[in-house]
Amino acid sequence: MSFSPSIQEEQLKSEMASTIFHLYDCTRIIGKIDFCVAPHTKKQKGKDQNRTPETTAPYLWAEVKRGKAKLEKALIQLILTIGGSDILEHSLPPIYLGAFNAEEIILIPYEKIQSFFMLNDFNWNVAPSDQSTREFRDLMARVQSTFATEKLRFRFDKDEKLLRAFIRQNLKIRADEQPQIEIDHNNFFHIYLQWRLIMVPHRNGKGQTLPGALDAKWDGLQKKGILESDLFLADLFVDGKSTIEISDDETIRENLIISFRSMGYRTSRGDTNLVDDLRFDIRDRQAYTNFWKRFKRPPRKESQQEIIDRRDRLVPQDVRERKGAFFTPQQWVELSQRYLADYLGPSWQDEYYVWDCAAGTGNLLVGLTNPDRVWASTIDRADVLVMHDRISNGALLHKHHAFQFDFLNDSFDGLPPELRSIVQDPEKRKKLVIYINPPYAEGDSRAGDGRSGVHQSATHDRYIQDIGSAASEIFALFLIRIYREIPGCVLGDFSILKNLQAPKFAAFRKEYRAKLEKIFLCPAYTFDNVKGKFPISFSIWQTDKEEPFERIRADVYDAEGQRVAGKTIVGYDGRPLLSSWLGRTAKAPQKPLGRMASVGSDFQNQRTVFIENVERRKKRGGRHTPIDQSNTIIIAICFAVRHCIPATWLNDRDQFLWPSDAWLEDREFQGDCLAYTLFHGQNCISAEDGVNHWIPFAEHEVGLEASYGSHFLLDFIAGRLPAPDGDAALIADGKPGDFTRGEKPITFSPEAQVVLQAGRALYTYYHQQHGAKPNASYYDIRRFFQGVSRTEQAKPGETVVKGRMNAKSDDAEYMRLIGELKQASKHLGYTKIAPKVYEYGFLLG
Ligand SMILES: C[S@@+](CC[C@H](N)C(=O)[O-])C[C@H]1O[C@@H](n2cnc3c(N)ncnc32)[C@H](O)[C@@H]1O
Repeated sequence: MSFSPSIQEEQLKSEMASTIFHLYDCTRIIGKIDFCVAPHTKKQKGKDQNRTPETTAPYLWAEVKRGKAKLEKALIQLILTIGGSDILEHSLPPIYLGAFNAEEIILIPYEKIQSFFMLNDFNWNVAPSDQSTREFRDLMARVQSTFATEKLRFRFDKDEKLLRAFIRQNLKIRADEQPQIEIDHNNFFHIYLQWRLIMVPHRNGKGQTLPGALDAKWDGLQKKGILESDLFLADLFVDGKSTIEISDDETIRENLIISFRSMGYRTSRGDTNLVDDLRFDIRDRQAYTNFWKRFKRPPRKESQQEIIDRRDRLVPQDVRERKGAFFTPQQWVELSQRYLADYLGPSWQDEYYVWDCAAGTGNLLVGLTNPDRVWASTIDRADVLVMHDRISNGALLHKHHAFQFDFLNDSFDGLPPELRSIVQDPEKRKKLVIYINPPYAEGDSRAGDGRSGVHQSATHDRYIQDIGSAASEIFALFLIRIYREIPGCVLGDFSILKNLQAPKFAAFRKEYRAKLEKIFLCPAYTFDNVKGKFPISFSIWQTDKEEPFERIRADVYDAEGQRVAGKTIVGYDGRPLLSSWLGRTAKAPQKPLGRMASVGSDFQNQRTVFIENVERRKKRGGRHTPIDQSNTIIIAICFAVRHCIPATWLNDRDQFLWPSDAWLEDREFQGDCLAYTLFHGQNCISAEDGVNHWIPFAEHEVGLEASYGSHFLLDFIAGRLPAPDGDAALIADGKPGDFTRGEKPITFSPEAQVVLQAGRALYTYYHQQHGAKPNASYYDIRRFFQGVSRTEQAKPGETVVKGRMNAKSDDAEYMRLIGELKQASKHLGYTKIAPKVYEYGFLLG
């Protein structure tokens, strides 16, 4: 068997489906996976009635490539595609992952790869097809040895028979012929996702409700704080005795909130909080046994404790969001304890008391060595039981020191006596460290079941008048209660930077005036289920010293825990933002030349800053500043300043500010910002939308005979325009502004001139092309060479070009010219504009 080397992907898929995999269902579409092979699931009389696409494991998910593309890399792309999506929450995983091209196929058993999906120090947020990312290389390095031992390769020309035999023997449904999969701390989460599909009622993709093999009053259970995952844990910690009978199954953990007993589930002994009418039993024994036939219970001994400790991972995202339950990775736990030891002294654990009042399953306390002085409290009883279980299995904590306590509602009178006496004694409080990663959730009306009102609590009611809008954030409520009701203590907390910087926290900062002694920052995406790229801090506060926050030098660690260059974090209270400076120029222009869209004044909104034609329909939200002769330079400055420094996880929350007036004297800076703005990807001015006023080169300079529709920019640069009416100098607070408004020639630095030369070469090359348009903008030129991702036929014979611009062009000369232009523009941004961004106070640091 062979395929033509030039066969297209779609054709190759359909030929593989009709030749090699003709006995199977290759029609399923699962997320962005190229090719899916699954058993047919049409119901047959007397056969497994529970077999539906949702409940039947697929056989193969594969990445498909044209020609002779390297298949190992294609497999990495597939792993990144799966890991970066929620596919595994909706579908059972396949038996094999694979990749094929026109020559060969490679396969690897899914179970050998699945542990990689559990990496929580890994950033899955990258484009899977981009082989240049650090994540791509990192994953390749991590899976290399698994590939070496587990990967199978079949060439279509030489190994066809072998491949067919392999498929016959390995791609089949009968679970009892598959070896039982061992459960460990790497795969238990995925097994849980599969368990939910079989056991719990849910809606499939077609909107039908599938009943689930367990019979329970799910709503009632949740109200009592019992989650589906508690039933899963009960199921998991069963000795299956290597038989398929349920009758001999026995729990091996009696002290979980739910455990498996007498062919059903029971609440933990002596739990008076739970009422008897919360029945849960096995409704569909066949489906239940079929499921557990595939896995060997109990989990591996060495993984058992870790699975229990990570109960939080099984908590559904909406519940987790509501409770703000995000587990602190061990690398940051360790580091925070090192910071505490540095600050409080090497014997701090014997001199101070420690209370984690948002303890979850107690993970933050791992590594502390003096159980007599450590307390852990948390809101959920199930988590307290997990802590007790961990204590029985050797965790260094006393059972009576781990207790249920709702920190936002309960009175300190209800604390264990010894802790209460510390909290209520001003002297002892000085030796108390409140050590927390508090819950992060904001009470609002946004999507996500039940988030509205999560902040409602006694603490909220007590402090809402004092801390204003910050009172909708649970972590702020923790901080203010600690500060006001346990004065004198030392506070060590993980946090986002809002309490230091967000305008919404201005009132909070007036109340919360503890001295910030030490702080380190680490990337938020290293925390479970946090995808955003922003910093999380660990701060040490002295609550008995009053020092309102203004600025601090923070230590910074990257995702691998390596210390990198530090960063100054500043408070923005009383400092006007760049957006209000820009607002000063927003008067109704007489002849608008375009419009700049922008949101906020921070790096996290960098992508929202772009220039477009006024004829375009405005995107909703944000500011839309019309551009005319009088404010062209101001716009160029705002645009260049917000784009010339790349947005990263670390600067994500930094705010751009109203600058000092020093920039007014700097004509070169003004010219550099204009040159930078003209050749930036976010400058979307297009002659397709209206007159293009943004052409910086005369016709003869770019070999064009036709004349442009607008010479505005040429005249503006040369200073040939009459001074505009009105007072654009308002922008310089008080002083008359001396910046160019078209009546004086622009000054360009040598670096900006290199950009213009590179731009001129690009324009010249463009105008040599067939179909080039005289008024084309920089955006139009890029689109001409790079094309867009898809075209559509509006009417017969008329093709409409739609979609995103492609990243590259096949035209090598264009790629060279645009490469040089981008390089020159980047250089201008980094070396000339960025230093002045700080010098003129657009950014503080
Ligand atoms: C961010 S998690 C931290 C868990 C654990 N200490 C760690 O660092 O990995 C916050 C914990 O606070 C708990 N929590 C939420 N609201 C609470 C409240 N009002 N009182 C006490 N604990 C609460 C959540 O259930 C969650 O376990």
